[in-house]
Amino acid sequence: MLYRRLGRTELQVSELSFGAARGYDRDEFPALVEAIIGAGINLIDTATGYGDSELALGRALAGHDDILIETKYCPYDSYRPEATYVGTPEALVASAEESLRRLGREHLDIFLGHGMRSVETLERFMNDGCYEAMVRLREQGKVRFIGISELSEADGTHQVLQRAVPTGAFDVVMLTLNFLLQTAAESVLPLCRQHDVGVVVMMPLNQPSKVSGLVSLPAALECIRRHVAAGNLPAEPPYTETDVLDFLQPYSIPEAGLRYVLSHDVGACFVGMSCLSRLEENLKAVDPPYLDRERKARLQSLFGGIQRQVL
Ligand SMILES: NC(=O)c1ccc[n+]([C@@H]2O[C@H](COP(=O)([O-])OP(=O)(O)OC[C@H]3O[C@@H](n4cnc5c(N)ncnc54)[C@H](OP(=O)(O)O)[C@@H]3O)[C@@H](O)[C@H]2O)c1
Repeated sequence: MLYRRLGRTELQVSELSFGAARGYDRDEFPALVEAIIGAGINLIDTATGYGDSELALGRALAGHDDILIETKYCPYDSYRPEATYVGTPEALVASAEESLRRLGREHLDIFLGHGMRSVETLERFMNDGCYEAMVRLREQGKVRFIGISELSEADGTHQVLQRAVPTGAFDVVMLTLNFLLQTAAESVLPLCRQHDVGVVVMMPLNQPSKVSGLVSLPAALECIRRHVAAGNLPAEPPYTETDVLDFLQPYSIPEAGLRYVLSHDVGACFVGMSCLSRLEENLKAVDPPYLDRERKARLQSLFGGIQRQVL
């Protein structure tokens, strides 16, 4: 496992990190967490909104205080793009305290405002006391580093992060980057470099389901079909051909997807994995230089114009 500097936090984080948004309710979760740690992964992403993920992690990570945890407070009433902003400083502080209790930790390594979906609600978050409450938690030592995650389904061109990063307010940002939504590479990563903000990547496989996303060839082709149907890609070859992704071989679709993300200047790439075989498969992508120039250029010319995420 290779480790990368996470911007101004100076944390060294495993380039492949673990997203615990799903699979924590399985009996084998503690053994999976042990295997993940054994593989060198030192950063885990969770959130108050991910069911019992924090509680399960608190149990599975007992005795592993060196493993870094990122968790989040969601200032909206749901994860839907049209959700109502309901953030308050009191709720934010209570959420952080609850996360500390569930995780059994004395501090949270990274604490994010979850799913900031519009510039307007980002401004509210910055000015209604929520951001100040985050800073206070950091001053009190309850939180080491603060940041926000975006909601790329609502903001495929990263307007929120383009506004937030240059303010210098945040140590870390969490963004979507995958070969079917490449926009962050040009619009946000250079800003993060300039302001020394740590970048963690979510949805490297495009938040896949069994039928759509970068988890298998049929699911990836279905995702491309949905982009065509939404008007994000032209309804013509090669997008309508089943061999459109054959140039990625010998890599599987998920391996190529992770290699694509890791070939960028980012800190950690979070991927959800529910079993040991997934971990073994995904560790194959941890292999510099990750993706050769030709395949990366082909992905850019095929899909670099997509500006909206389709799930
Ligand atoms: N706004 C936010 O803050 C936000 C939003 C979305 C995600 N996230 C974070 O980012 C993490 C990653 O997000 P995500 O959307 O990519 O994924 P995810 O929701 O964690 O799910 C990943 C899926 O990919 C599958 N998978 C992983 N490796 C695979 C492989 N080698 N072959 C086939 N399938 C594979 C897993 O399948 P199995 O279940 O079968 O193992 C799982 O269903 C999340 O876990 C979460 O921590 C944050």
